[in-house]
Amino acid sequence: MARYTVIHVKGVRQVKIAVVGGTGMLGRRVSAVLRRRGHEVRVLSRRSLEHQVNLVTGERLDAALEGCDALVDASNASTNAKNILIDGTKRLLAAGKQAGISHHLCVSIVGCERIPMGYFGIKAEQEHVVEQNDVPWTIVRATQFHDYIAAMFEQAARWKVLPLLKIPIQTVAVDEVAHTIADTVEAKPRHGRLEIAGPEITDARMVARTWRSVSG
Ligand SMILES: NC(=O)c1ccc[n+]([C@@H]2O[C@H](COP(=O)([O-])OP(=O)(O)OC[C@H]3O[C@@H](n4cnc5c(N)ncnc54)[C@H](OP(=O)(O)O)[C@@H]3O)[C@@H](O)[C@H]2O)c1
Repeated sequence: MARYTVIHVKGVRQVKIAVVGGTGMLGRRVSAVLRRRGHEVRVLSRRSLEHQVNLVTGERLDAALEGCDALVDASNASTNAKNILIDGTKRLLAAGKQAGISHHLCVSIVGCERIPMGYFGIKAEQEHVVEQNDVPWTIVRATQFHDYIAAMFEQAARWKVLPLLKIPIQTVAVDEVAHTIADTVEAKPRHGRLEIAGPEITDARMVARTWRSVSG
């Protein structure tokens, strides 16, 4: 029995799309939007109930991508990031080329190249790997998600602390990012970048205060 309602959107060609990291904060929303638009979606991740793959070893990537037209890479890593995001992207692109993927969409972060170290440096390098390859590509860069910042505050609050940093942020709703990604992967590869940010520039201190007043 179908677990979702398929709406065939007029004028959009329905295709097979692999969502790598399709179980994550962003990936599961992207998968849901694409399914609602009538595409055949394959969710790929280590613990996916559909297609278990591992970007670190390359395990089962070839089989999972077979027959797919396009791919959204929404994988992420808090540890072992170089291995997952840089080497994993190389493995993914090689498997994608083999499978005949005609659009590789990589999700990245607005301004990552301006902080050329740690996680942001790795994201900038991941973008570079995508730009240099043979598979047609688009990079969609987003600012931090509201949900991600809320999760950070929740974690910190367990230790009875709240980071009150006076740094500018412009968080965005993850559902808006998911819709932008769906629109972008349905279109032709741009061989370029596209950026999405929330409507308001504020500072992290203000957001922390608002979060505290709402969450108690
Ligand atoms: N979070 C933000 O605020 C934010 C803002 C801007 C851009 N982004 C970008 O958006 C993308 C997604 O971020 P997110 O926050 O949604 O990530 P997330 O919630 O941490 O999800 C990460 C996904 O990657 C999969 N994964 C991790 N290691 C893997 C491996 N070795 N092989 C295969 N799959 C693996 C995970 O599934 P398993 O554990 O089942 O493998 C999960 O589905 C990233 O490119 C990130 O840089 C995030």
